Amino acid sequence: PEPGWTREADVVVVGSGVAGLTVALRHAELRPEAKVLVVTKDVLGEGSTRFAQGGIAAVLDPGDTPEEHLNDTLIAGVGLCDRRAVRALVTEGPQALRRLIARGARFDLTDGGELQLGREGGHRRDRIVHAGGDATGAEVQRALVAALGERGIEVIEHALVLDLLKDADGRAAGVTLHVMGEGASDGVGAVRAGAVVLATGGMGQVYQSTTNPPVSTGDGVALALRAGAVVRDLEFVQFHPTVLWLGEDATGQQPLISEAVRGEGAFLVDERGTRFMEDVHELADLAPRDVVAKAIMRRAGQVYLDGRHFGDDKWRTRFPTIRALCLEHGIDPAEELIPVVPAAHYASGGVRTDLHGRTSIPGLYACGEVACTGVHGANRLASNSLLEGLVFAERIAQDIHPTVRPAPTDTHAPEGLFDPRVRPRIQAHMSRGAGVLRSRESLVLTAKALGDARWTPVRVLPCTEAWETTNLLTVATVLTATAVAREETRGSHWREDFGERDDERWLGHLDVRLTEEGL
Ligand code: SIN
Repeated sequence: PEPGWTREADVVVVGSGVAGLTVALRHAELRPEAKVLVVTKDVLGEGSTRFAQGGIAAVLDPGDTPEEHLNDTLIAGVGLCDRRAVRALVTEGPQALRRLIARGARFDLTDGGELQLGREGGHRRDRIVHAGGDATGAEVQRALVAALGERGIEVIEHALVLDLLKDADGRAAGVTLHVMGEGASDGVGAVRAGAVVLATGGMGQVYQSTTNPPVSTGDGVALALRAGAVVRDLEFVQFHPTVLWLGEDATGQQPLISEAVRGEGAFLVDERGTRFMEDVHELADLAPRDVVAKAIMRRAGQVYLDGRHFGDDKWRTRFPTIRALCLEHGIDPAEELIPVVPAAHYASGGVRTDLHGRTSIPGLYACGEVACTGVHGANRLASNSLLEGLVFAERIAQDIHPTVRPAPTDTHAPEGLFDPRVRPRIQAHMSRGAGVLRSRESLVLTAKALGDARWTPVRVLPCTEAWETTNLLTVATVLTATAVAREETRGSHWREDFGERDDERWLGHLDVRLTEEGL
């Protein structure tokens, strides 16, 4: 599409969760003369950040050390973390958290006025900072949005990013946008900028059931692929072990039951009321997520979370959000078992970056879930994601030095948009064949079905839903291709036909780039 209007900025940040807003705020602090513009698909604060319940992992307890946080992260990542990136995460994390507190975020404190520290799966220490009991993300989002307003940083809402603009040397030069509510192509505009920061979040909506909000449609990864950037390890999709089970046909965003509930002592039981995680892993109910999700999927019947022993008071004070979600669905967690099931939660892979958030395209940065910085490897450790957003946003904000606003030469419009009506089909195929359980057979069938969806002959207006469906299909196709290729089981990638981890062949990454010839 040809841009109908053009704006200029030094830095355009695409996305308004913890990663995007922290880059914008920090860069504006470091370079007050720079023009920073935030564009966001919905309104500020509609992304995944505000749904984060558990918290932010950080080494704050005097008995804890960065080395231990590093080790827990490396273990969860099953050999594929970049140790340098993890070291940056665990050593710079506490300071990044303090900066967030200085910006106005209020976390739960002990009676002595210290930050309260909880525990989640895969952590061998209490190091999860939380707010409002189980409403951490909402508080982080609130504080950042308020800080953005105070700083007067300009925001364009309801603006879906379409494609990257590049200059004659292949450097990022801005983005094109579809501004919603402005009709079809007359809503398309462009922001010319010296640096582009992708902070568009995840792609959970590629599956039928997910903890992610409706906006998580892989837009940033799809943009990066169309622009020719390297994308890494898309096969590693983390399934959260416990969302509230709402029936076989539940689709879209599901109510999360935080791992912090197990961190406080709730446990999983089967239909007979028998605990089963103790036989599976030394950390039992607090084993890494892939282990717990697999253990649940392996069981024939319904699985429940038992937190009745907390009593009503603890549910009200420590987990008010989750209690309310349960009550909304007729379950009183102080009296009843909570039926749970795994759902797509987090993309550990994404647009490949270096330690400063730089992608393979000069001037294009990626931060937060859209990025693959190397901190998560094959499986992200709980509560490391808000932390990653904070730490790498800081690094990116320091690294950006746009001196010129390069002149864009072309836009990379996709060849065609897909009918939004194929979206549920994409999601159903992905959940059936490329979900928690995968095999060559199921993945090849999925790839074929996605190929069929591609060829559905449709003419659609370039509306948001069509762009999102196109993006979902793009990331689903690449995710399935990498999941076929990785013939082993590692972290969140669980192949039924290659049940073991294979360090000889697979202790490496799957980098993908789209060229004229294909993947
Ligand atoms: C949770 O609260 O269980 C989610 C935390 C996370 O995904 O890091």
